[in-house]
Formats: sequence, C-alpha cells, structure tokens
Amino acid sequence: MTDVPRREVRAHRPAGAPPSAGGPLAYGGDYNPEQWSRDVWREDLRLMGEAGVTMVTVGVFSWALLEPVPGRYELDWLAEVLDGLHGARIAVDLATGTASPPPWFSRAHPETLPMTEDGGRLWPGGRQAWCPSSPVYRKAATALATALARRFGDHPALALWHVGNEYGCHNAHCYCDVSAAAFRDWLRLRHGDLDALNEAWGTAFWSQRYTAWEEILPPRAAPAFRNPTQRLDFRRFSSDELLACYIAERDALRAITPQVPITTNFMVQPFARDIDYWRWAGEVDLVTNDHYMDASDPDAHIELALSADVVRGLAGGAPWLLMEHATSAVNWQPRNIAKQPGELLRNSLASVARGSDGAMFFQWRASRAGAEKFHSALVSHAGTDTKVWRDVVDLGAALRRLAPVRGTRVPAEVALIFDWQSWWVLEAQARPSVDVAYLDQVHALYRALWHAGIAVDVVPPEADLTGQRVVVVPALHMVSDAAATRLHDFVAAGGTALITFLSGIVDPNDHIRLGGYPGAFRDLLGIWVEEFFPLRANQTVHLDDGATACVWTELLHLRGAQAVASYRDGPLPGVPAVTRHAFGDGAGWYLATRLDDRGTQRVVQRVLADAGVSSPTAVPRGVEVVRRVGDDAAYVFVINHTDAAVDIPARGMELLRGTQLDDALVVPAGEVAVIRESG
Ligand code: GLA
Ligand code: GLA
Repeated sequence: MTDVPRREVRAHRPAGAPPSAGGPLAYGGDYNPEQWSRDVWREDLRLMGEAGVTMVTVGVFSWALLEPVPGRYELDWLAEVLDGLHGARIAVDLATGTASPPPWFSRAHPETLPMTEDGGRLWPGGRQAWCPSSPVYRKAATALATALARRFGDHPALALWHVGNEYGCHNAHCYCDVSAAAFRDWLRLRHGDLDALNEAWGTAFWSQRYTAWEEILPPRAAPAFRNPTQRLDFRRFSSDELLACYIAERDALRAITPQVPITTNFMVQPFARDIDYWRWAGEVDLVTNDHYMDASDPDAHIELALSADVVRGLAGGAPWLLMEHATSAVNWQPRNIAKQPGELLRNSLASVARGSDGAMFFQWRASRAGAEKFHSALVSHAGTDTKVWRDVVDLGAALRRLAPVRGTRVPAEVALIFDWQSWWVLEAQARPSVDVAYLDQVHALYRALWHAGIAVDVVPPEADLTGQRVVVVPALHMVSDAAATRLHDFVAAGGTALITFLSGIVDPNDHIRLGGYPGAFRDLLGIWVEEFFPLRANQTVHLDDGATACVWTELLHLRGAQAVASYRDGPLPGVPAVTRHAFGDGAGWYLATRLDDRGTQRVVQRVLADAGVSSPTAVPRGVEVVRRVGDDAAYVFVINHTDAAVDIPARGMELLRGTQLDDALVVPAGEVAVIRESG
C-alpha cells in the first residue's frame, strides 16, 4: 500500500466515524451492492442522502467476489463502491469478508467443513461452513483481511474495520479431528498435566480416567450423559478458538492500519449463548452488537433493554454501537411480525438511550434473491412510498437531533451479574429440573428493575463492585472463590445483594461446593439448604405473603437470616422462601423460588428500599426512562410503550421536537421524547 502518514489518514477520516466523540451518531446498515447493478448503486447513494445515512457496513459476505480464484484478489469493484460512498460523505465500516468462504475454498479444503457431534460433516451451501480451529481457514481469512488493508487502509471513507461477522453464528462448535487436537492443546494450557485434568473432570466417575492425551476427544455424541466438565471446557475452548480467529485477522489489520479502530459484531440477544463475550470485550476497539426482537415475547422491549445493558457492560460503560437490528420483520423466526408504526423509532432510541452511539441495520436494501429475501431493510421491495421508508427518514432526522448525546454515559447504582459460563452449566444435561432456565431467571429480576425505572450496570462475576449499592445475582450457578469473595466484601462493606436459587452451587470445574447449598454463599446469606424440591411441570405453590411461585422449592434452614416469606403449601409448608441476612454493614437477600412477576417485583422493591435506591423519575407502568449523562448536560430518554399519553415532569429542551419545557411534558402513546435537562 502507499505509505500514508498516520495523521493524514486521520484527517481524512469522515466525521461519522466511531468511536471518537463529537460527530454524528452512526446511522445506516449492511450495504451489499454486489447484489445489484450500478444504476441501483447510484440510486442507493441518493436515497442514503435522503435518509441521512452516515455509515454503512460493506463486504460482509463478499469473499467469493473479492477472491474469485485462490490468491487472486479483485478489489476494483469495492474501490468503486468506497469512492462513491466517500463522495456522498458516508463513512465505511469495512468488513474483512471472511464470515463465509467461497465454494472453491470448501471444495479445495473439505477438511475445513465443520463436524457435528455425531461425526457428520456439514456442507457448504449456507454460510459460515468452516471449522474454527482450521489453520487453513485462518490463513486464507487473514490473507484476505491483509489484502483489503493494503488496498483500502488509506481510503478516506474507511472509519472502522468489521472483522468476520457474528462469530459463532452457525459454527460455534466443531467436533472434527483438527478440533480435537486443538482442544488437547487448549486443555494442556488450562490443566497442565493429565492428573490435573482427571481431577478437574472428575474422571473417577464412570470409569473415565485418561492415561494418554490422545484418548481425549471433544464431547462427541455418546450413549449416556457426557462428562459435564469436558463439555464445559469444550464450550470454553470453542469460544476461545473463535476469538483466536478474530485476533488473527485483527492483528493483521492493526499492523497495516494502526489508526483505524477494529470491531466484530457480537450477538447479545436471547438465543445466542455460545460465546463468552466477557473474554472478547477487551479485544475490540469498539463494542458493537446485533439485536433482533423476539416476536413471540410480549416483553421484547424489556429484553431489548437488558441486551443493551449487557452490551454496555461489555463496553465497560463506554458508548457502543448497535451494528444491526431490523426496520421491521426478520425472516428467520416462525412468525415474522412486522413492526407497528413508531416501533422502529422506539427500538432504535431505546438502544441509543442505553449507550449506543447510533443505530445500524441489516440491511440497506432488501434482497431480491437468497435466503434472506423476506427480511426487512431500509429500502424495502416496495420502494420508498412505504411506512418503512417514512420511518427510516424520520429516524435519520431524530438521530441528527440527538448528535449531542454521543459519547455520554448511563450512570447506575445497581449491578446485575451476568455470566455465560453459568448459563452453560445451569442448562447442562442431568440437572435437578429442566424448568430452570438461565435467561428466565435473569429476565425475571431485570423485568422488575425495568418496571421500577432503575438503571442497571451488567457486570461479570469477578467485577469490582465499588460504587454500586445493590448487586443482583440471578442463577449464578458456577462461581469462583474470587467472585464469591468480592460479593462477600461488597456486602460486608455496606452493599446489598439479592441472590437467587441455584447460585453458588459449583466451582469453576463444575464440582459441587459441599456442606449444604449454596456453598459459595451460605455465610453471606445466613442460610443453608439441605435438599432441592423442584416442582412438577405447571405446579404452583403459595407464599404466606400472597405471592405465587413455580418451578422450584428447596428445604432451607435459617442460620442467622430472617424469613421474609415462607411457603403456605406445596412440598415444604412453613419453610422460608425469601430471606434477609444482616451481614457486616450490608444485607444478603435470598430468593429460593421462582416467584410470579408481581411477587418478584415486590421482593426487588423491598431490596431497593433496603438499600435506599429509588428511581429519579416516577413514571407510569410501561414507560421507560433512561438517562445519559455527559460533562455538561444530561439527556433523559422517555419511551412510552403504552397506548395512552403520559405526563412526565421535565425541565429543559425536548430535542426531537425542539420545544422548551418548563415543568412537564406529555409523551403521546408509543412515542419517544429526549429532554436535555437544564439546571
Ligand atoms: C442406573 C445405573 C446407575 C445410575 C442410575 C441413575 O440404575 O445402573 O449407575 O446411573 O441408573 O439413575
Ligand atoms: C445476522 C447477520 C446478518 C443477517 C441478519 C438477519 O445479524 O449478521 O447477516 O443474517 O442476522 O437478521
């Protein structure tokens, strides 16, 4: 590449480029011009201008066009696209194009195709058909990334590198022999020698003791339950292998374009659980996420808020970017529900409220062919005389008015511990009840906090909890000594913790912490549990405070704690179900069952009151209020999810409508307001 001095490259960087503060919010989406003719490209640029697009992601699935034959890169068409975008003052998030290798690659290297747990090979014909441990794939992918960086590293439109796409979507686990060898290398690093591995995996059980490394395999399909620690380590390994693929490309890019930030789009959303993003977050320059609404979830807008808070947690509280969401329906759920008028703006701005410095989509123009032709886009099949296009133009205008929020942060006094690894082990084979689901536990508590109007920082299990007043710990099944100590110290120093059942049960090798459950938190909670009494499917029990519960009960004994509520019926009448323990200067609350929503909300309210935490703005149910705070202003997002207008106390400037507010604001049904507070 031409050797351009670094400062000059920076100066050419378009104002739309994240993650520096001061520019506009990012607005745009995946742009796949290779699916269209050049006259459509010209039309695209015109329409992008009309919509106020500031950045697009180019080349995500372009490998087959960028490298049509092995080692020959054809990049001129992409140069033309980038030049056009630059001419239209649109920044480019340039993909390395490595998510899906071309057919020639799979044909030449069939050993790179992923193997399922029962030994079958997956075929090309969809996307992402590659083994995460394949050195052949990694070499080819890194070579393509390098070629793109050499050619486009000094292109003035280049604002951000987009490595791969949604790592772990479709190919999170490969069970082939190449993966097996890589797994053994990973295990050597983790456990050292075979004795340690045998101990960690508990191989004294079921005659599983290993005497040579070659005997160790990925947890392939077996006649009986597989070794749980082997499966856990394989999940950890698989997440790390994908991370290594990302890092290989990232480092190749960084060597050539050290001035250009690098990201890969995460999948923090309800159905994506295979990647331990806490291990990835520190490896990207900008945390970006893809999020799609689950059409079957009546509380999908609350799930969106949780996902956004998880992503902000991954970013360490710094601004992040919503890299993909949908203008309306997707095409991959059983019933793909179109968004109602106003829903797009609510969804986009709910993410912005929670720290996203923009709103990007899949995709710019709806495809005419291919597996995603029924997926919504900014430009739909029907064109621009449409609800979607009007919403798109409105959103562009709204984001322009919200430019001042860029770079601001969301303060919170309540933390929620989220842990992919606990999710994995809680839902592993052969557990006490299939009805205990990790996200259900997380959502139940989060929903209560959302309804209480409380901002939440999502943190990893070993996080420094200084500055928080309440820590909520849903189903943290697996916990390290270090994480348990942090939580004890936090409460001893005056914090308040709310911990739910099946937390603190196993150590990081998935071995039970003995001596009565929950081994890691017995002292903190002032209780011990003798035996689990899960409920039958659809069985409910009642508490003496009127709440209803399902899924879970357990034979709990007080050892210092006080019973807040006990069972009135079910298998354990009279046994405490909610407890509070004064511990040091703080309090440890325990929730030993799955309460209904009202019951959960009541417990959460009591815990918040116990800690003296309350919402800064009292709002009606169904109205979401979130604050982003900068050096010289605070921005209050009010999102009315109800079908009635609401009256909100407010002083300052309403940015979307440009009105000055002296004491109150009416937010109509389904609408959003953003107030720059004065005073
Ligand atoms: C059978 C087996 C036991 C044990 C139990 C579990 O009885 O013989 O080894 O696995 O199932 O219920
Ligand atoms: C993911 C992918 C996109 C597209 C969308 C469809 O987010 O990254 O390529 O498939 O899903 O919703």
